[in-house]
Amino acid sequence: MTMPSEKTFPRVEPGRLEAVWAALGQVLSSEQLRRDDETRQRYARDESDSGTYPPDIIAFPETTAQVSAVFQACQAQGVPFTPCGARSGKSGGALSLRGGVMVSLERMNRIRSVSAEDLTAVVEPGVITGDLMRAADAVGLFYPPDPNSWEFCTLGGNVAENAGGPRALKYGVTRDYVLGLEWVLPDGEVLRVGRRTIKGVAGYDLVGLFVGSEGTLGVATEITLQLIPRPRHVLTALVIFDSVVRAAHAVSAVLASGVLPRTLELIDEVALQAVAGKGYPFPPGAGSAVIVEVDGSTEEGLLAELAQVGEVCTRMGATETLVAQNEAQREKLWAARRLVSPGLRGLKPHKISEDIVVPRSRIPDLIQQLKALGDRLGLLVATYGHAGDGNLHANILYEGPHQRPLVEEAIQQMLKLTVELGGTITGEHGVGHAKRDYLALEQAGPVIALQRRLKTFFDPSGLLNPEKIFPAPDCF
Ligand code: LAC
Ligand code: ZN
Repeated sequence: MTMPSEKTFPRVEPGRLEAVWAALGQVLSSEQLRRDDETRQRYARDESDSGTYPPDIIAFPETTAQVSAVFQACQAQGVPFTPCGARSGKSGGALSLRGGVMVSLERMNRIRSVSAEDLTAVVEPGVITGDLMRAADAVGLFYPPDPNSWEFCTLGGNVAENAGGPRALKYGVTRDYVLGLEWVLPDGEVLRVGRRTIKGVAGYDLVGLFVGSEGTLGVATEITLQLIPRPRHVLTALVIFDSVVRAAHAVSAVLASGVLPRTLELIDEVALQAVAGKGYPFPPGAGSAVIVEVDGSTEEGLLAELAQVGEVCTRMGATETLVAQNEAQREKLWAARRLVSPGLRGLKPHKISEDIVVPRSRIPDLIQQLKALGDRLGLLVATYGHAGDGNLHANILYEGPHQRPLVEEAIQQMLKLTVELGGTITGEHGVGHAKRDYLALEQAGPVIALQRRLKTFFDPSGLLNPEKIFPAPDCF
């Protein structure tokens, strides 16, 4: 989310900072600690566009014991601390809003094992998601979760945010692949939770709780992931429509026809403009595009599936269906899709990017109402994303701070509409800092209160990643 002005939060007094700097110097080498302005600025932002918040100190632990020692030092000195990976998050989860210590897990970046027999991988949190995908692929296996930032985001960040991606439609999200975690609690205690086996129901599902806890209940220092056999064949097609509403109806019709593609990604006409001339020649004048990808064990089977999808789409008004002829064409198309989010920044000086989800049958309604909302308020709205699973990135593009009240109004209406349609305010990016003021639109007071109690249970001092998830003002 773009916000023209940052909010102000209490900062740590200099005396405490000096004390924690000295304490950290006892557990990390000088080369693992920074407090120069250049590094502080570099760690002040993420991909949420929700402000610049420089941490006071950045620590780069390289082992679990060091992570634990850093947490203990922060607790002992009463200094807030915020974990981060690649800072590619979209909701401000890795922003150190109150300053203090940023704990970067980026140097813990080893893939410890990939087992073709067990279909598992054990990784450190700083491993780049794409590196694991390639390591799995090298032994004939597949790690399906594919956040669009997979070339630079980290698995620790994916775990913290429970990242999704285009393939979630068929394969689910990060949580569906995490079997076990080595987890450092906010007070520095190290636990092993979960399992290494595919099945296992002993005790409460702590893995389920920690994955998606947005860096507020601790951090993963080791992640055991489930892999699956690599599908033998993949086919990708681009289907063109003259309007996004038609495309949305076609997505629903495809899903109702008994085929489950691994992606059904929708791009509206504004998002198409954002990537025009940037590597993929979308047909000029296209009103919308849908990227359909199917995978399976035989090419003939997939061709039949794509033919069926093509027929449904044509019946629903598609003007053209283009099948990628080779890997290079596929990659070019996906590269264009990954460029949508950064590309939209080029259309107007500011953008707000929402991450809403509705039951799939309501996608056409949602799109229609979002466009009407934009027209009513005189704002340009772009919609794109994972339409197949009901998760849309609705972006409001605007000129500058003078339009801010209108934009606030638009966000409020958009999120209310989403909840009224039976949806949720965030499908994959998290609440973090960007959406905390809207959580109450979706969740009842007692549900938020229960979660606050959980946070207090795990982090009584509230020093780990303060000012996140729950509406302000709060006691964290
Ligand atoms: C995407 C990111 C914004 O799907 O989640 O492009
Ligand atoms: Zn997305």
